[in-house]
Amino acid sequence: MPQPRFVFGSLVLIAVALGGGAAAFAYTAGWFSPQRLTPKKIVNALAPPTGAALGHRRNHAKGICFTGVFEANGAGSVLSKAQVFTRGQYPALGRFNLATADPNAPDATVRVRGIGLRISTPDGQQWRSAMIDPPVFPVSTPRAFYELLLASKSKDPNAMKTFAGAHPEIAAFGAWAKNAPWTGSYAEERFNSLDSFVFTEGSGAEHTVRWSLLPAVQPVAVSPADLAKRGPDFLEQEIAERVRGGPQRWTMVVTIANPGDPTADPSKAWPEGRRTVAVGTLVVQQVEAERDGPCRDINFDPTVLPSGMKTSDDPFPAARSAAYARSYDLRTAEAKDYPRTATGAKP
Ligand code: HEM
Repeated sequence: MPQPRFVFGSLVLIAVALGGGAAAFAYTAGWFSPQRLTPKKIVNALAPPTGAALGHRRNHAKGICFTGVFEANGAGSVLSKAQVFTRGQYPALGRFNLATADPNAPDATVRVRGIGLRISTPDGQQWRSAMIDPPVFPVSTPRAFYELLLASKSKDPNAMKTFAGAHPEIAAFGAWAKNAPWTGSYAEERFNSLDSFVFTEGSGAEHTVRWSLLPAVQPVAVSPADLAKRGPDFLEQEIAERVRGGPQRWTMVVTIANPGDPTADPSKAWPEGRRTVAVGTLVVQQVEAERDGPCRDINFDPTVLPSGMKTSDDPFPAARSAAYARSYDLRTAEAKDYPRTATGAKP
């Protein structure tokens, strides 16, 4: 009976293949190397001492949704073949947010502000991005970010000093946090990708770039003490009111690296004088509360990119993608802890 032997042989092969798969999975999950940084570890490290806010993003937990359009002026087509750079209007969806794990943090207590953005094009592709307002990231690598989270929660009073000694790159971010003016509006913020990406032209030529959203509104400095006197949610109220009065705009500017610029390290600014291309305008037309809003169940994963854009040698986007997916899985499974209020709406 050759057939059963054949079947048995196949089963052995399948078992070997599955065993190999399981081992590979165990390896990537970090089970064989406890030092390995995993999405689970980094997301756990983001949790405040009181525990994560169930149903919410594990970082940038406080935010408000918006919708609008991206008006491409056509200039970006010299850098990338992505349809989003062809002159025209494309639907945009996003979220203004604060870099905190606490969805109820008073707005004046959070130094870093961010924006999540998704631009969709008729070819079915999307450009997702999550940007923040400092000009540099605090640290050079995802592991250093994890260690920073641990140090900031440590009971050792010298933990942060020790961390800064081992990671001197944090000084540039520290100087920004200490000296840069605060503003009273998301509409006055400049948001930066910080991570670098690679744009590909139709010809195949490549450019390593970073991008920023520059506000049309002139920023007005407000002292943290004055901001603290405003309500705990003044940023959300202000942007909702401002957009009710008329659409708000940011210019999308792409900066192209020179050879030798630090493309793999978002803690290092590129020198002044790099070539920049203004590729279009983000127009925010409507603001909606997060609870029932369209941004709530979106993962602004920075590796979701259209053809014509890809990740670079910067190690952050891959680490961020894995951490955001874990956060997304957790929070969407906890929808009962953050129920929508609209009648009949489904999480
Ligand atoms: C290893 C480094 C990082 C980790 C582990 C991390 C972690 C996270 C997590 C878990 C979320 C919530 C995701 C979700 O549930 O949808 C998040 C959101 C966010 N992150 Fe990061 N992040 C990192 C680096 C960065 C960098 C470099 C930037 C910007 C340059 C950034 C900007 C943002 C923004 C703007 C959001 C909010 C997006 C939204 O509204 O959904 N993050 N981050």
